[in-house]
Amino acid sequence: PLARSFSMTSLSGVLPQWDEEDLPVDDLLLFEVAWEVTNKVGGIYTVIQTKAKITVDEWGENYFMMGPYYEHNFQTQVEACEAPLPAIRGAMDALISNGCQVFFGRWLIEGSPYVLLFDVGGASGNLDRWKGDLWDSCNIGLPSQDHEAGDALILGSLLTDRLGDAPNVIAHFHEWQAGAGLILSRARKIPMATVFTTHATLLGRYLCAGNVDFYNNLGKFDIDREAGERQIYHRYCLERAAVHCAHVFTTVSQITAVEAQHILQRKPDVITPNGLNVKKFSAMHEFQNMHCSSKARIQEFVRGHFYGHLDFNLEKTLYFFIAGRYEFSNKGADLFLEALSRLNYLLRVHKEDVTVVVFFIMPAKTNNFNVESLKGQAIRKQLWGEIPEMNNILDRDDFSVMKRAIYATQRHTLPPVTTHNMLDDATDPILANVRRIGLFNARSDRVKIVFHPEFLSSTSPLLPMDYEEFVRGCNLGVFPSYYEPWGYTPGECTVMGIPSVTTNLSGFGCFMEEHVSDPAAYGIYVVDRRFRSAHESCSQLTQFMFGFCQQSRRQRIIQRNRTERLSDLLDWRFLGRFYVHARLLALSRAFPDKYEMDPMAPPKAEGFRYPRPYSVPPSPSASLHSTPHHSDAEDDDDEDEPYDEDEEAERDRMNIKTPFVLGGVPGGR
Ligand code: UDP
Ligand code: G6P
Ligand code: GLC
Repeated sequence: PLARSFSMTSLSGVLPQWDEEDLPVDDLLLFEVAWEVTNKVGGIYTVIQTKAKITVDEWGENYFMMGPYYEHNFQTQVEACEAPLPAIRGAMDALISNGCQVFFGRWLIEGSPYVLLFDVGGASGNLDRWKGDLWDSCNIGLPSQDHEAGDALILGSLLTDRLGDAPNVIAHFHEWQAGAGLILSRARKIPMATVFTTHATLLGRYLCAGNVDFYNNLGKFDIDREAGERQIYHRYCLERAAVHCAHVFTTVSQITAVEAQHILQRKPDVITPNGLNVKKFSAMHEFQNMHCSSKARIQEFVRGHFYGHLDFNLEKTLYFFIAGRYEFSNKGADLFLEALSRLNYLLRVHKEDVTVVVFFIMPAKTNNFNVESLKGQAIRKQLWGEIPEMNNILDRDDFSVMKRAIYATQRHTLPPVTTHNMLDDATDPILANVRRIGLFNARSDRVKIVFHPEFLSSTSPLLPMDYEEFVRGCNLGVFPSYYEPWGYTPGECTVMGIPSVTTNLSGFGCFMEEHVSDPAAYGIYVVDRRFRSAHESCSQLTQFMFGFCQQSRRQRIIQRNRTERLSDLLDWRFLGRFYVHARLLALSRAFPDKYEMDPMAPPKAEGFRYPRPYSVPPSPSASLHSTPHHSDAEDDDDEDEPYDEDEEAERDRMNIKTPFVLGGVPGGR
């Protein structure tokens, strides 16, 4: 009778509801541990950072994020303050008196969550002792040369050293780097409910990067041996131990769940798809205006970069891009380059007057911007600053300025493919493939390449835009990944109303196929990399891009409106429920006497689907090719076709029978 129950059968409308007195958070603390807390590496940072708001809404002052301390991150992203809870203050004091540094504050992001950060480097003097503890508790040995694994152990040891004294904790750990904390807390029998979320499997990522036919052989790998041969056996042991120690194991997509079952030998209990913090603008089409102004900024860059070669019409130029950590084949950059070479050919033979400028935003080792790229921007600024008004040309000085400007724009080299001096120029896979397919930004090329081997920043002298602004200015994001447990980049495009290409090997692509009847009609092109050969996938990608190039501006505007309409599907306000479910399940498993869970509660698989948009013909390719509104005047916004996008949106909404009951809502029905 004392057992608390959170059967959420009362789920009605949008969010799960509990009876007030059943709210489990009152006397509970939630710890969320990840290497990416305040520390930007890749997509896991995006998960942690965007999810903070809804978690704080639910847990308030009882929510603590934990991760590694880096001075720069702390100074720029955290407002230091005193820890509010005696248990946490006590743990911090004990660590500090042992010579370890710990920092506390509010992370300056939406929701302002508390963060507790551990100085891993400063505690490395204890590493050997902690390695011994790890060995004693679970027979995992860490080699001395693997500093990353050593750091993961230090974080885990610092965490579990004193925090185990805190009462009633749910601890949620992300990815193998946080896994050591979970393993140690279970080994020390600290009474906590634990959740482990993996965002990939180590071995899966390695195998795929090594060009293995991964998905057709999932059940056939000798996983221990494969991990050993790749010298990641100890990391793989940490990962696998964390998975098996957790009360609840989750991963970000169905496809990674299947992978985990084979590679980590445990079926995830819950799938926790990644969401975003969707911002709605008061003016419905504000995102279209933002596209326009961001695109103008990209155009400025292009004017400089292609100086002397600007014989293509910027009004008819489209901007495509790929972005993310530089995993050449896992991120599908190989397929993309091959398809671009075919697209270039198609645009040339069909005498299309469209030019496509393609950006590769993938960080590689560089030694600053190259001179040629900087010179391009300098010339652009000089020209725009200096050219006299045509109507007022009066004297010799003006003519000299004009002549100088014209001479300055003459160049004897092609516009550079890369913006930076590459350290591994000869062996870099993007450059090697650009050389092979010969896309050197020649005048005759309709596809131009700009490889920016560094993440974007608004303080760059070359392309001063942050990533979000850049994405808004582009026309199409292309992410033809082979290995992608989720893949934030196409999702980020979607909520900004920018169409994108994804694949049915990415968690995001599968999620969209599951929940949207005709993703392509909404500007989500899903390349089939699962059931087709690489050659066929490449043809499909080429056709998607070629079809995209044949759309009129008006069609692109309509498509962007549709894309943006999918935003709600990716909002944490809905997807956050899977995290709620995972936590409750962990509580019920860790403390069955205290917390019981409605046996009917396991997530249901059926759910919500976005219907095909009202005005679109029945097949995705037809929606592009059979209704080409090709007009010579690109600015055909007011083409004479009856279309009312608000009416279409309204009809879409009315078609949605289930008002946002997503598949897998805890206890949903
Ligand atoms: N990203 C960024 N700046 C850039 C390019 C990418 O901040 O110039 C971010 C992007 O917003 C996304 C993340 O990097 O959130 C990549 O996450 P994803 O899940 O796509 O891939 P991962 O790197 O985790 O494999
Ligand atoms: C937005 C703006 C329009 C502009 C268009 C350009 O929709 O509101 O004024 O014409 O973007 O779109 P495009 O697809 O050519 O980049
Ligand atoms: C990993 C995956 C990526 C996913 C991200 C967040 O880094 O590679 O696909 O989006 O985690 O879950």
